[in-house]
Amino acid sequence: MDAVTLEAKDICVDFPGVKALAHVDFQLLSGEIHALVGANGAGKSTLMKVLAGANPGYRGEIRLDGEAVELRSPGSAKKLGIQIVYQEVDQALAPALSAAENMLLDELGKPGALWVDWRALYQQAEQLKNQLHMDVDVRMPVGRLTLAQKQMVLIARALHSRCRVLLLDEPTAPLSTVETKTLFALCRDLVKERRIAIVFISHRLPEVLEICDRYTVLLGGRYAASGPITPKTTADELVAHMLGAEMGAVPSRLSRSAGGALLSVHGLSSRDGSVRDISLTVRRGEIVGLAGLGGKERAVQGAVRHPAQRRRGDPAGWQAGQSPQPRGRGGTGYGIGAGGASERGTFPRGERLLSPGHCQPEAVEPAVLPLRQKAGAQRPDTD
Ligand SMILES: Nc1ncnc2c1ncn2[C@@H]1O[C@H](COP(=O)(O)OP(=O)(O)O)[C@@H](O)[C@H]1O
Ligand SMILES: [Mg+2]
Repeated sequence: MDAVTLEAKDICVDFPGVKALAHVDFQLLSGEIHALVGANGAGKSTLMKVLAGANPGYRGEIRLDGEAVELRSPGSAKKLGIQIVYQEVDQALAPALSAAENMLLDELGKPGALWVDWRALYQQAEQLKNQLHMDVDVRMPVGRLTLAQKQMVLIARALHSRCRVLLLDEPTAPLSTVETKTLFALCRDLVKERRIAIVFISHRLPEVLEICDRYTVLLGGRYAASGPITPKTTADELVAHMLGAEMGAVPSRLSRSAGGALLSVHGLSSRDGSVRDISLTVRRGEIVGLAGLGGKERAVQGAVRHPAQRRRGDPAGWQAGQSPQPRGRGGTGYGIGAGGASERGTFPRGERLLSPGHCQPEAVEPAVLPLRQKAGAQRPDTD
């Protein structure tokens, strides 16, 4: 690690009515996994597209190994060894073609490729599959693969071509915990053995802290912060950068306090064990959101409640920067966002996958905010 591989300076991208990136600086070192974090709409994908040559209208300067480069088309980025795997994997795949054909699609599509040596193609695909420890039948049509397998096919495609910089835009969003671990193992191998540099975008801050060497935070299309990720780096720190001044400045949208309990659930468990000992109260005048990660193995559920009675010294309340701790039958979590520090969440006993700052506010907030505003402004008696 150390040498700067890719450096973007003063990058600006405008869309009609939106400054998606304003004077952003970004540095990627060789052999590192670099987290690009920020709330939804912060400009992460736009920056990745610039680096992948898919946003040709950008302004600013990009250097690869110190040399100024123009990344005005995906082809020009690929030629320089910059490969991207987009979050929307299906858009980059031909579903009726086999995994092998999809892995080697760039070769099949080369001008002058009049015939295909199928035996060589499948041999190459098998080799790639073995190198990447992929669990995929390379003759299977890609449309029948799982999302994780499709993603692997795309990574294989990226690595088959010369790849020095691999850009992964929210690769873990559709993956289970086990699939994520497999991807992380692969990423570690790639940086160690091939000295590839990886940019990793994720909303899941524990993942970022686990896999990444350094981070850059974008906030509202601007550079907000960057630094190394050490054992001392906390998710709260990253969240603070992600929210910037908004964290303390945004007033609570509703000042009403909630009414009496309308629905109370205590110690609810399902026969199949997928929910255990859930307790929840819904009070008159509040919106209670149930949040959790998809899939059985990630079945952590939380409730983000609004409006919480926010009083200094209220042991059940949450103040900015304070870590939620498990308490007795239920731990107290929190949501962060435009409502300020006035939300609480209750998490099932023993389930502590969502640790401080990992309440995935970006995932919860956009869905909750319009409802909350509506309830506050128009339907004060919303149940
Ligand atoms: N093709 C586009 N046309 C118009 N606006 C866009 C386009 N792509 C992104 N944006 C806007 O640019 C901003 C940054 O988006 P994006 O880079 O996708 O954010 P992130 O990946 O951090 O969630 C957002 O306001 C988004 O709505
Ligand atoms: Mg994005």
